[in-house]
Amino acid sequence: MRHAVASLLYGGIRQSAVSGYGVYARLTGNSMDLEPVIHWGDRLLGCIPKSALDLLAVSVPERLQRDVLGLSFRSPLVASSFKDDPRMLLFWHSLGLGAVIYKTILMEKRLGNPQPRIQDLGDQGLINAMGLPGSGVAALLADIQAKRNPVFDMGGPVGVSVGGENPAEYRQVFDVLNGALSRPDVFFEVNISCPNTNEGQSLLAHPELLGDLLAYMRQRTDRVIGVKLSPDQSDDSLRQFGDILKSVPRVYVNLGNTQYRNCAAVGLSQTALSRGGGGLSGTLLFPRTLEMLAVLKPFGVPMMATGGISTPERAVAAIDAGASLLGMATTLVKNPFVVPRMLAAIS
Ligand SMILES: Cc1cc2nc3c(=O)[nH]c(=O)nc-3n(C[C@H](O)[C@H](O)[C@H](O)COP(=O)(O)O)c2cc1C
Repeated sequence: MRHAVASLLYGGIRQSAVSGYGVYARLTGNSMDLEPVIHWGDRLLGCIPKSALDLLAVSVPERLQRDVLGLSFRSPLVASSFKDDPRMLLFWHSLGLGAVIYKTILMEKRLGNPQPRIQDLGDQGLINAMGLPGSGVAALLADIQAKRNPVFDMGGPVGVSVGGENPAEYRQVFDVLNGALSRPDVFFEVNISCPNTNEGQSLLAHPELLGDLLAYMRQRTDRVIGVKLSPDQSDDSLRQFGDILKSVPRVYVNLGNTQYRNCAAVGLSQTALSRGGGGLSGTLLFPRTLEMLAVLKPFGVPMMATGGISTPERAVAAIDAGASLLGMATTLVKNPFVVPRMLAAIS
C-alpha cells in the first residue's frame, strides 16, 4: 500500500516536472533536456529525511537470495551501471535490490558529451548520449577510502563498471581499483558496449583483446568479473564472446547495454541530442534481451538480463529465460516503486 501511494506521488511529480520543464524550454527558446529534471529530482529526494525514506525500505525474504559465482545477492534485482550518486543508489537498494553497479568509471575526470544528452521518450523509455561523464578513478577511490561513499559500506555485493578508450586504460582503471579495494564482494563489470563515445565499443570489434584483458584481470584478482555486451551485436558476435567468456573462471555476462538509435528513428529532432543519436533504453529493448538470453544460455555462463526489465511479468520472463540476475536503469528512473512488486512476483 505505502509503495502504491509512493508510486503514484512519484509518477505525478515526475510527469509534472518533465512537462513543466518542456513548457519552460519552449518559452525560453531552449531545447528540451531531461538532465536538469533528473538533477532536480535527485536534489528533491535528498531533501527528504532519512527516517521518512526508511518507511519505504523493503525487508527482502530469504527465499529471494541468489548465489552467483560465490557472491550472495539478497535478491536478483540489480541497479545497472548508470548512476554515481550514492543517495540514489542507496535509496534504490533500500527498495529491495540485491546489488548496485556503480556507473562506468574511467581513468580521468570526464565531462561527457555536450548537452542536451538525455531525452524522455514516454512509455518507450529514454534515449541518452551522456558519453560516460564521471569523476575519474582517483576521485572515486579517495571518496571510498575516506568513507565518503556509503555505497561501498552497505551490505551485499557492489559492482564497479570499468571503462576505457583502449585496452591499456581498462587495465589501468582495474589496477587502481583492484589494488585499493579491500572488500571481497566488490566485483568488476567491464563495459565494452557504450554507444555514446568514439571508443566505447572498441573491444566489441576485437574480441581477442577482450580475451587478453580478462586474462590480465584474472591473473590479478579472484573477484567476480562481468562483461557487458550490446543488443546491437549480431547473434554470431554474441556467440563469439560466449566462447571467450566460458573459458574464464568466475565471469558473468550482462545482456546488455543501450541500443543505438538516431534521433529521427525515435521521433526526435536531430538536435535533441548533441550527437544526433544515442542509446535507447527501457521497454523497447526487452524482446532483444530475451533473444540474447536464448543465444548465450548454451554457454553456461551466469547471465544478468538488462534492457527493458520494467514490470513484474518481464522480471519473471527473464528469469524463466535463464537469467540469474536482472539489471535495471530506466525503470529506476521512471518508477522505482515497481521493485517491491517485482520481488513479490519473483518469489
Ligand atoms: C542515463 C543513462 C546512463 C547510462 N550510463 C551507463 C554507464 O555509465 N555504463 C553502462 O555500462 N551502462 C550505462 N547505461 C546503460 C544501462 O546500464 C542499461 O544497460 C541500459 O539502460 C538498458 O537497461 P534499461 O532498459 O533497464 O534502462 C546508461 C543508461 C542510461 C539511461
